[in-house]
This record gives sequence, structure tokens and C-alpha cells, in this order.
Amino acid sequence: MSVVVIETKTVAETQAVAVRLAPLLRPGDCVTLSGDLGAGKTTWTRGLAVTLGIPAQAVTSPTFTLLHEYPGGRLSLYHVDAYRLTRGADADEIGLADVLNAGDGVVVIEWASHIAGALPAERLEVAFDDTGDDTRTITLTGLGERWTNLQADWNACSC
Ligand SMILES: Nc1ncnc2c1ncn2[C@@H]1O[C@H](COP(=O)(O)OP(=O)(O)OP(=O)(O)O)[C@@H](O)[C@H]1O
Ligand SMILES: [Mg+2]
Repeated sequence: MSVVVIETKTVAETQAVAVRLAPLLRPGDCVTLSGDLGAGKTTWTRGLAVTLGIPAQAVTSPTFTLLHEYPGGRLSLYHVDAYRLTRGADADEIGLADVLNAGDGVVVIEWASHIAGALPAERLEVAFDDTGDDTRTITLTGLGERWTNLQADWNACSC
């Protein structure tokens, strides 16, 4: 398990975490986002989208569509909001297994704990802790062999 902790004071700083992470992402990666309502999960995902070449305003909090696909970037982005889901089997119904198996993009899942049974063992967990009006603590935890070098790769980044 490899862990990185970042404190942010603005939306821009939270999005900069995604910008710095983006070069480390590969097709087929699964990134799970946790944190309370308004903690910054969608804000962070917008930062990632822009870095991948996808317009930030395209990324919304899905209400009825629980899995959004944003093609056209360096990597495709699949954005899942599992808030309304209650069990792993629901994830199959929205096609989560299909996009994970396709391995052609990065799969970002908000409220991933709601579908814990459907998550791959190898994943990057991003936890958002709302520590004040504009402050957040963001903890990146790499699970599995894929993410063994997370901390070293993060520190090696020149951005
Ligand atoms: N440092 C910060 N990082 C991220 N967001 C911040 C920060 N400071 C203030 N905010 C505000 O917090 C809110 C985060 O909202 P966002 O929709 O990203 O949360 P969320 O975790 O996706 O919530 P939900 O669970 O409802 O989907 C935004 O209004 C944003 O402007
Ligand atoms: Mg959200």
C-alpha cells in the first residue's frame, strides 16, 4: 500500500492534484473517490478531465445517468456516481464491469463504497476530507501491485 497526503486550500489546488496524477494513469485504471457530500469529488474529476483533454463543463454530477463516458482525451474517462446504488450487483446493471474489462480508459467512481463488492482489488483510492470552508485533505492510497510505486512516482513528478 502506497499513500500520499495533500492539503488543499482552493478548488484550483484540489484540481492540481488531479493534474499531477494524470500522467501516472494508464488505460484500465480504476480510481475510487470517497468523501461527504460537497467534499470535492466532482470538482477533482473536472480537473482530471481537463488534463485528459475533455472540457471541464462536460463533467456533471449524474442524476439519472449513472455512468458517463467522455471520449476523445489522451485516455477516455468513465465517470460513475454510485451514490444511488446500494449493492455491487447494481454496478453490473450500469455497465461498470464492461468498462473495467474494456481497459480503454480511466474509470473514476464517486461513492465507490456503495458498490464495494464490484470494485477491483487493484485500485487507487482518493479520499476527500472536508476540513473547513475551503480546505480539504486529500489522501491517495494505492492498492495492489499496480500502485506499489505511487508515492515514488508522485514525488518524481516535476509538476
Ligand atoms: N479546496 C477545495 N477543494 C474542492 N472543493 C472545494 C474546495 N473549497 C471549496 N470547495 C467547494 O466544495 C464544493 C465541492 O463540490 P463537489 O460537487 O465537487 O463535491 P462532491 O464530493 O462531488 O459532492 P457529491 O457527493 O454531492 O457529489 C464545491 O462547491 C467547491 O467550490
Ligand atoms: Mg459529486
